[in-house]
Amino acid sequence: MRAELTARLNRIAETAGRYSVPGSTLIDVGSDHGLLSVYCLRNDMFERAVLTDINQGPADRSLAAIRENLLEDRAEVMVTDGLSGVPVGDNDVIVIAGMGGNNIRDIIGRFMEDHPEFPSGVRFILQPQKSVPELREWLSDKGFEIKDEDAVYEAGFYYCVLVVEYIGTVTGLSDEEIYYGPRMLEKLDRYPDYRDFLERVFEMRARGDTRLKKVLEERS
Ligand SMILES: C[S@@+](CC[C@H](N)C(=O)[O-])C[C@H]1O[C@@H](n2cnc3c(N)ncnc32)[C@H](O)[C@@H]1O
Repeated sequence: MRAELTARLNRIAETAGRYSVPGSTLIDVGSDHGLLSVYCLRNDMFERAVLTDINQGPADRSLAAIRENLLEDRAEVMVTDGLSGVPVGDNDVIVIAGMGGNNIRDIIGRFMEDHPEFPSGVRFILQPQKSVPELREWLSDKGFEIKDEDAVYEAGFYYCVLVVEYIGTVTGLSDEEIYYGPRMLEKLDRYPDYRDFLERVFEMRARGDTRLKKVLEERS
């Protein structure tokens, strides 16, 4: 099977590949169809992948995709909640994509509880479907740094892709950075379509969110 990726998954794969160094494993949490890992392995972006899913059905789909592509010797599929029991090594790249920001927060939070010594050089590539500002704020409060951010358009919607690293220091984000993203704010003018999309979404959300309303007033 030749793995073709949608724009969203393609951007996630490209981003993950940028942080791959010799020996780093791709850890694909919530792998579902397994397409991301198949693509990254077939294109030799990673030597190895671990695919995890909390549900047996998606894990079976992941395993079928791995087998169809003759990648069994380079990949392992686990049925587990988030990163529980997953061997995470230095410089591994962990993708958590296509799920809500609160679910992503809980997965990373449990990983931190289980690993008081955080492995070094680990990059998280996060693509939350919702609750993006809440996730940014939580990450910042827990000592993570948002190294890069991107937005990718697919089927009428923009998806955020965040590159995050644990630095163990709380740097803090302004309210504007929480909503727009600290790295995205630096380049928002280069993405006018995304900026317009975001501002339409924010206009609606600000009706019930006084913090966001204040951010929008200060920007206007
Ligand atoms: C919408 S799919 C996204 C699949 C793929 N990551 C993508 O971005 O296209 C979400 C997948 O995450 C899995 N999932 C949800 N919560 C999870 C958790 N706590 N641990 C592992 N997998 C989880 C679901 O079973 C489902 O297969």
